[in-house]
Amino acid sequence: MAETRLGVDDLIAPLFVREGIDAPVPIVSLPGVMQHSRASLRQEVAELRAMGINAVILFGIPAHKDAEGSQAWAADGIVQMALRDLRDDVGDDVVLMADLCLDEYTSHGHCGVLDDHGQPDNDATIELYGQVAVAQAEAGASIVAPSGMMDGQVLAIREALDEEGFHDVAIMAYAAKFASALYGPFRDAVDVTIEGGGDRKGYQQDYRNAREALEEIRFDLAEGADMVMVKPALAYLDIISRARAEVDVPLAAYHVSGEYAMIKAAAERGWIDGDAVALEQLTAIKRAGADLILTYLARDLAAAL
Ligand code: PBG
Repeated sequence: MAETRLGVDDLIAPLFVREGIDAPVPIVSLPGVMQHSRASLRQEVAELRAMGINAVILFGIPAHKDAEGSQAWAADGIVQMALRDLRDDVGDDVVLMADLCLDEYTSHGHCGVLDDHGQPDNDATIELYGQVAVAQAEAGASIVAPSGMMDGQVLAIREALDEEGFHDVAIMAYAAKFASALYGPFRDAVDVTIEGGGDRKGYQQDYRNAREALEEIRFDLAEGADMVMVKPALAYLDIISRARAEVDVPLAAYHVSGEYAMIKAAAERGWIDGDAVALEQLTAIKRAGADLILTYLARDLAAAL
């Protein structure tokens, strides 16, 4: 009689790959998640695939960061190298997605390049996003996922991809992405600290606003997004549900690092049954209307399901 069924093929595993390491490095605030070396990433994707997870999204940690974040679009940037490795290994059997942003690559930690006042320069940034998209597509990404929340980013990326003949590369837009305190462990995972104690409230959404989030989703679809995302997930089930009622494209939700860490930390103390809570939370996200869930629990759940 169950209305909602969570399946392994609903899940997308976010994976971190770090340049210049020989062995995986555990991320303390994300127990069970690693910064992978190129070799250990290949191993991880092979294992996930054997467990039925057929989509992954890559995040890179470069050896060198600079003001522009140039390793994000370098042909030999870490994510581009990893995409090539994985494409060789898995062919078309696993959907390879690449997170498309500059924050992991910039020395100041913002999602874009800065203007003379130290503020993210929207229009200069989306030009660079176009270059990143092309580099990721050339390296074998089938889906690019812009997460920087710059205005006009989806259109700039679509145009850049089309110009280079990558008409088939799809865009999953982080459309309704809130300025959330739940991204803390992720910033440990990618070694990002925003310069001067800054935040992303200038470009990410205000969590007091739901209608504005829907407007962001409409803009991204009008610009050519093939699928849209709501992020984080659990505290935003109302947004997921409203988005589901309004749009007919695939809807993704990101169960983010802080959501994962809370489950793991409480379970470690024996205060909750972590596996049961994980299943309950992800099922609720699907019940609210998400078709796809990006989650660090992908591996655990694949084993459980
Ligand atoms: C930005 C990006 C972030 C996350 C995914 N892409 C961090 C941020 O916006 O600060 C967070 C994901 C998570 O917390 O799991 N490139």
